[in-house]
Amino acid sequence: MTIHDQIVELIRSQDPEAAGIVQAEAERQSSTIELIASENHASEAVMHAAGTCMTNKYAEGYPGRRYYGGCEFHDAIERLAQDRAKAMFKCEYANVQPHSGAQANAAVFMAMMEPGSTFASLVLADGGHLSHGLPINFSGHYYKPVHYPLVRDADSPDFERIDYDAVRKVCLEHKPAMLLCGYSAYPRVIDFARFREIADEVGAILMADVAHISGLIVGGQHPSPFPHAHVVTTTTHKSLRGPRGGLILTNDEDISKKVNRALFPGMQGGPLMHIITAKAVAFGEALGSGFRDYQKRVVENARTLAEALTGLGYRITSGGTDNHLMLVDLTAKDPKGSEGDLTGKAAEKWLEAAGLITNKNGIPGDQRKPMVTSGLRLGTPAVTTRGFGAEQMKAVAGFIDRVLSAGLSGEDELSRVTQQVRGEVRDLCAEFPLHGHAPV
Ligand SMILES: Cc1ncc(COP(=O)(O)O)c(C=O)c1O
Repeated sequence: MTIHDQIVELIRSQDPEAAGIVQAEAERQSSTIELIASENHASEAVMHAAGTCMTNKYAEGYPGRRYYGGCEFHDAIERLAQDRAKAMFKCEYANVQPHSGAQANAAVFMAMMEPGSTFASLVLADGGHLSHGLPINFSGHYYKPVHYPLVRDADSPDFERIDYDAVRKVCLEHKPAMLLCGYSAYPRVIDFARFREIADEVGAILMADVAHISGLIVGGQHPSPFPHAHVVTTTTHKSLRGPRGGLILTNDEDISKKVNRALFPGMQGGPLMHIITAKAVAFGEALGSGFRDYQKRVVENARTLAEALTGLGYRITSGGTDNHLMLVDLTAKDPKGSEGDLTGKAAEKWLEAAGLITNKNGIPGDQRKPMVTSGLRLGTPAVTTRGFGAEQMKAVAGFIDRVLSAGLSGEDELSRVTQQVRGEVRDLCAEFPLHGHAPV
């Protein structure tokens, strides 16, 4: 019996209903191909570190300065996570307590800006995150976002990349307190040095939210935001392959103090000590010898998938990818273009039925609504964890194309091809089992 089976049986003995749901999810993960760019399969050690007795403790405060007794081992585990976080990013200060990426961002905003202050960022529709200034998010509600654009000229070699001249222009015009870079759906390298130059010119704090690319940075496949950014946030569960959570990093002692205060007591109560335990284990893995090779394969797999899809008639925004993700413009494949049926929403649904898990995503300048979209975002961290290489990425491109082409041919054809591809996806998953999960 695997550890997973033992845990499910333990839960089942007390709560069959909950155990049934966990088992069904384990089977879903095992038998489908995970292409959501922000997801991954954490190791057994990381998953189960999050399920230990460390969940039982209140440890408000920071190591050595807690508001509760009995924190000896909680101090030890938090210090271990901090030390490993600093080693990963080669920086001086780390706060490992944020419950999530959005909360890490909120703490930095609270630490570095007065309510009502202006900050500059990329808008959600162009690849930013909702915590980067969406009007219904804290960031857009309590602060004043101004947005810098992507290059819109299709004839430019920089089409759909960050328009750094426009970043400077926006910053010179609005004099933001903070300049924010780092994105949710941007497939190209971020020039942190250039952002810092602009931030310095206007006296802004440079914040880098590297939630998506933090694993690539630690694995040497994307330039580091240090020494350029004043403050860096990330999630720990995407390319970094840890438990769900957030992390804040800086080289500046004053910023570190402000951030620590803003997070606790400013924003959160007791830290999730079981998750901090799992973060420490995941950071240990990221510092291990195999992580660089894993991240290299993540990037190679993304490139192979993007090239294979391009060969099948899809347009990848900005002409390809430098990192772990890509945005597929589906209108290029649909004979009716943006007037046709091949929307992001339809593609996500059709692919899920065939066992390929993706998410619809707007493409730059998308005319369709956010719940419909003209694009799909695809990423390779999870499939690379599973062991997929170039051959499997080409097979995945073929699966995607067969399902989407069938969708364009009508319901009967879609149903026939979906069934066929679902079987092939299941077979491929069985060839690459997930360690510590349910068998396919
Ligand atoms: C760039 C970026 N920042 C922050 C977040 C928020 O992370 P969380 O969902 O953990 O709050 C995300 C999540 O997708 C993200 O892509």
